[in-house]
Amino acid sequence: MTTEKPASPSTIPAEIPADLGSGLASRLERVRATLRHHLTPSPEGVCLTCSFQAEDVLLARLALDLAPNLPILFLDTGYHFAETLAYRDQLARDWRMNLINLLPAQSVADQERQHGLLHQSAPDQCCKLRKVEPLFAALAGYKTWFTGLRREQARSRTALEESADFALPGGQTILKLAPLAHWSTRDIWYACEMLAIPLLPLYAQGYTSIGCQPCTTLPLDPNDPRSGRWAGRKVECGIHIEAAPNPSAPEPGRAA
Ligand code: ADX
Ligand code: SF4
Repeated sequence: MTTEKPASPSTIPAEIPADLGSGLASRLERVRATLRHHLTPSPEGVCLTCSFQAEDVLLARLALDLAPNLPILFLDTGYHFAETLAYRDQLARDWRMNLINLLPAQSVADQERQHGLLHQSAPDQCCKLRKVEPLFAALAGYKTWFTGLRREQARSRTALEESADFALPGGQTILKLAPLAHWSTRDIWYACEMLAIPLLPLYAQGYTSIGCQPCTTLPLDPNDPRSGRWAGRKVECGIHIEAAPNPSAPEPGRAA
């Protein structure tokens, strides 16, 4: 069996292979069509979450071309790499982004005073407080949510749909759109190259999936780009897991 290192900007030649080029152009056009459908003539009620990883900045670039004022939501957990924050700020300035930094209820200092290092002792609880709760509270203000999620990223994402309803804890359902669901990592890098999108410098250091600093290392398994997240202790932070249905809620179609 041959094992190939996951593609990263430092392992990909800048020149786009001719056979990939035309396919990539049509894939890009398909994503643009989805964005156009939801963002024009008005992007009202639509948001895009951006971790500032490559797929998110690609999707943000394509979206901002159609709706320059689109709300771009960033989960500012307080635990990000300095490089991520510097890159976020630079890109937000250069692209004149309507960037919304979502903050958790407690500062890092208060949380650590009260609970200690939750990212070590109880990462699910830490993600719940610093990512899931702030995001779901914000999403309640929108009808449509664009994300850069892709099937290839993880085993937990292989059934990802490009379009699906997503239930929030309050009972509200919003439309969740992942137009890059079927894209490969290679497609992402080449599209960024083609559109001259600068990438988060941490990729050049070998990182292949980048979240909060205490929970991100270089990949532990060269065949699994997410193997550097949570050191294999968990695979999802929880923001892509729907709220369980409320058993006391009336059945759809039935009056309360
Ligand atoms: S995570 O669940 O493990 O953190 P991942 O890093 O793969 O997710 O990113 C998947 C998608 O989740 C991104 O395309 C983005 O929509 C959203 N996301 C993840 N982290 C953030 C963040 N810090 N801010 C905003 N969106 C994020
Ligand atoms: Fe906390 Fe780590 Fe989750 Fe960030 S990724 S919110 S530091 S557990």
